[in-house]
Amino acid sequence: MNTYAIIGAQWGDEGKGKITDYLSEDVGYVVRYQGGDNAGHTIKFDGKTYALHLIPSGIFRKNTMNVLANGMVINPLALVEEMSMLNQLSVSTDNLLISSRAHVIMPYHHQLDMLYESLKTDKIGTTKKGIGPTYSDKIARRGLRMSDFVSEARLEAHLDESLPFINTLLKTYGFETFDKHSLLHQMKPIQDQLAPLVCDTSKRLNGALKNNDKILFEGAQGTLLCIDHGTYPFVTSSSPTAASIPLSAGIPPQALKHVMGIVKAYTTRVGEGAFPTEIFGEKAESIRIAGNEFGTTTGRPRRIGWLDSVALRHANRVNGFSVWALTLLDVLNGVDSLKICTHYTLNGVMIDELPASDEDLRRVEPVYETMQGFSFDNKNIATYEDLPEAAKVYIEKLEALTKVPVGIVSIGPSRDETLVRPEIMGKHFGGACDD
Ligand code: GDP
Ligand code: IMO
Ligand code: MG
Repeated sequence: MNTYAIIGAQWGDEGKGKITDYLSEDVGYVVRYQGGDNAGHTIKFDGKTYALHLIPSGIFRKNTMNVLANGMVINPLALVEEMSMLNQLSVSTDNLLISSRAHVIMPYHHQLDMLYESLKTDKIGTTKKGIGPTYSDKIARRGLRMSDFVSEARLEAHLDESLPFINTLLKTYGFETFDKHSLLHQMKPIQDQLAPLVCDTSKRLNGALKNNDKILFEGAQGTLLCIDHGTYPFVTSSSPTAASIPLSAGIPPQALKHVMGIVKAYTTRVGEGAFPTEIFGEKAESIRIAGNEFGTTTGRPRRIGWLDSVALRHANRVNGFSVWALTLLDVLNGVDSLKICTHYTLNGVMIDELPASDEDLRRVEPVYETMQGFSFDNKNIATYEDLPEAAKVYIEKLEALTKVPVGIVSIGPSRDETLVRPEIMGKHFGGACDD
């Protein structure tokens, strides 16, 4: 099977967009299968930077079809805005398909997101994009799917049924309420624009599988934000894991072949929740600045920490990574000494797993191995072998602690700042991109 998954191994923002774009040359399909515009994927090439939230990172490849699959939650207003942003930059969005079964984020879902956050003592720090409330509606079987959104009559019927309850709830807590006619009026041009793109994307992808077309699945968020395997409740409302792909794209489980974990050379987190290896002060600030660690979606400063191999082994256990793509290695340039967390202690006892309870995770103490720092100039690095010895030792430590080989090392945001290890990619990742 010619199928490849790109999965975040941490709390998101690992560089999935960059790696997806890099790998999408000659790919038939790039598929976003979960999440919504809470994601922010940055792509840089030819001196231009693009920030994508909903549209898959294969959009820059003319011969690649980009699919928003059934497991996504889609804000149609944000989608047409993103299409228009790309069109203005001369990027065509003709190669885009939307699943008729994907759920729709309506303006009231943003208000509900804010309402639910306001009622929580321990706030999640959501992106306020309406993700949780839309997935809640889906699971409660009162959601709105794309196939119904693009029909005027069915959208009206949906609003007739759902708005009274939603407005009562919003009004009770002093939030903005919504008028059916204004919503219908606002959505009319969006329905017209999106209707031709809405189809049974599972059928298309199964056809592509039969053809042995190359399909790349682009995860959003990261495994530690997974609704099942993440640091609950400080997570998102979908599963970005490899296991989510068959369900969220409508393909058979055995069709998924290669799984790449994207791991940043250190750790970041936006939003609240336990972060065992978090660091503060000058070192954190210098990494934040060097890595431009400010949210693509919300602009919030990202929290910074050391690489956490306990969390990465957990991510590998639930995803079964074939290889790592290690990103943002250059950001650690000049940091005098580096730390990698090898395991935790909890109540004085050594543990090698992420505790399920957030309360326990807040109390674990990371045990570190200190590593020598390194410094390199990208101008002198054409291949993996050119990296300084200390950088290679750091990479080998990641491989040893996780038992997953590193197939790609990213040393800058641009497409051409990417080092591929052809022997590892050939052996473990179907040889993809061994150019
Ligand atoms: P995603 O959500 O996983 O796609 O990641 P984001 O795009 O939100 O965040 C990753 C950030 O790091 C973006 O600003 C990228 O342009 C940038 N980036 C990706 N890879 C590298 C790298 O190897 N080095 C540096 N310095 N920046 C990178
Ligand atoms: P990409 O795809 C980093 C975080 C939010 C918050 C939690 C829940 O760019 O890696 P939500 O709005 O989803 O209900 O928020 O999840 N979060 C992300 N953090 N990268 C992302 O996506 C994220 N998407 C959601 O900050 O802590
Ligand atoms: Mg991001």
